[in-house]
Amino acid sequence: MSKYKICLLPGDGIGPEIMEQAIEVAKASVGSEAELEFTTALLGGVAIDTTGKPLPDETVAACKAADGVLLGAVGGPKWDNVDRSIRPESGLLGIRKALGLFSNLRPAVLFPELAPASCLRADIVAAGIDLLVVRELTGGIYFGEPRGDKTIDGEPASFNTMVYKQSEVRRVARVAFEAAQKRGKRLCSVDKANVLDVSRLWRETVIEVSKDYPDVTLEHMYVDNAAMQLIRDPSQFDVVVTSNLFGDILSDESAAITGSIGMLPSASLGEGGIGLFEPIHGSAPDIAGQDKANPLAMILSVAMLFRHSLNLVAPADRIEAAVRKVLADGYRTGDIMPRENAEGCKMVGCKEMGRLVLENL
Ligand code: IPM
Ligand code: MG
Repeated sequence: MSKYKICLLPGDGIGPEIMEQAIEVAKASVGSEAELEFTTALLGGVAIDTTGKPLPDETVAACKAADGVLLGAVGGPKWDNVDRSIRPESGLLGIRKALGLFSNLRPAVLFPELAPASCLRADIVAAGIDLLVVRELTGGIYFGEPRGDKTIDGEPASFNTMVYKQSEVRRVARVAFEAAQKRGKRLCSVDKANVLDVSRLWRETVIEVSKDYPDVTLEHMYVDNAAMQLIRDPSQFDVVVTSNLFGDILSDESAAITGSIGMLPSASLGEGGIGLFEPIHGSAPDIAGQDKANPLAMILSVAMLFRHSLNLVAPADRIEAAVRKVLADGYRTGDIMPRENAEGCKMVGCKEMGRLVLENL
């Protein structure tokens, strides 16, 4: 029987409670097909409180020693006033960088049962939503240098740098083309090439890479138009590839149109090595510790870990099927409760949602 080491980074806010449900689902779904060994490490606010740093060296080492990493969420108002370099979020950015996780896959799929929870009109969601945002994760304006504060014309000013090396664009483009080959064979590259030099290089590079993927149809879209098209007709998208900042924004939008940000998992992958899997939502401090959080994005992140890093395809299928069944049976956490016509829907908390998935595995 194969044995896998999974490093858990529960983090802050609702992170620990959704992680608890995900671990139970992970264990039960593999049954006797594999042995899972869990280690836990500190990241984010909890790491600041315990060690003074959002990303302790031991956490990086624990992640590197594992076959895959599961992350809950980081951040919260408690750490709003700490120095920027030691904010919880810098722990998250730091672990992405330390593990070389340059591509972030954020699938946004509308479960038909959740169509009433979408913020879009029924006739728009009727066409279906099944898209994949491939977000560049270790470059762009998030990491660009120089950055900081200075004085311009005698007044305080601050600046960041949006920069991409061609090799950074090339490698994430390849991931996106390969993902498109396995799906609907359509790729939309999102940029702001009408204004930004960095986007011009992005576009030229994606076009160059496209020559190796003649079976994939490539189109380009400016980011403002993409934001609009996502709400006007999301069914037109298959795979979207874009930079770190644009991907951050468009993936939240993709989540909202599929019903709830509480539903979407993500995979952050590097060159061959280890992957990190996390829900795309944040730490939701307003509902933390109240058994209200939706654990499904975290649970679906386990399925992505199994599929992408551990090759445990059957358990991944079982988890996804169990989630569909629970939704089909009408169980909803608060975030995915329809605003109207909620008959047939039963409101449950985080623990009960986890238990229902377990029961349906
Ligand atoms: C995300 C989050 C993070 C990001 C924050 C918490 C730093 O919004 O994973 O989308 O901006 O990447
Ligand atoms: Mg985000």
